[in-house]
Amino acid sequence: MAIGLLFLAAQFFRAPINKVDNPEVYLDGIAQSLNMPDNVHAIHKKACYDCHTDHTNYPWYNSITPINHWMYSHVRVGKKQLDYSTLPSKRDKGFNHKLEEIIEELEKGKTERFLGMPLYSYKWTHKDARLTDEEIIALQDWARAQLRGDISVVENGE
Ligand code: HEC
Repeated sequence: MAIGLLFLAAQFFRAPINKVDNPEVYLDGIAQSLNMPDNVHAIHKKACYDCHTDHTNYPWYNSITPINHWMYSHVRVGKKQLDYSTLPSKRDKGFNHKLEEIIEELEKGKTERFLGMPLYSYKWTHKDARLTDEEIIALQDWARAQLRGDISVVENGE
């Protein structure tokens, strides 16, 4: 009973919401400024943007406290470490380092169940974020091409 009341009272403590008004335009803008081919953008969309951009596609259970706070903490910390929308502005400083980390985190996620990216809890609730080896390689190839500044390689898919 007391626990139930506490749970009900807790529902008034909403977590901050990470959303933009026009997600399609916003996310397409990110893809464009980072020279992502369509498939690379689509993989990021289903597996990474929720925690690493200003727009999260929330599941219904985000309306439940404390799940919302737990999810918000992932978004807050995730964005602090890597924000795809501010990544282009880092081209002169820190850009390559972030790309190297993306390659590393994806590599870790291939073999380590609880480490690497996407977060384990996210893969558990988002089946299509459990990336195949091909999808991981597509993201890594894109990041490597950006590292070399060799954008044509990405566009031609060669
Ligand atoms: C559910 C939220 C969530 C998702 C989805 C997610 N991340 Fe993360 N990411 C985090 C959090 C939280 C951190 C910081 C803590 C950590 O490293 O575990 C992080 C850290 C990182 C870092 C480390 C940055 C640094 O400077 O150390 C990279 C790189 C990264 N994520 C890439 C990705 C990529 C690529 C994807 C998609 C394949 C992805 N993330 C999906 C939440 C997420």
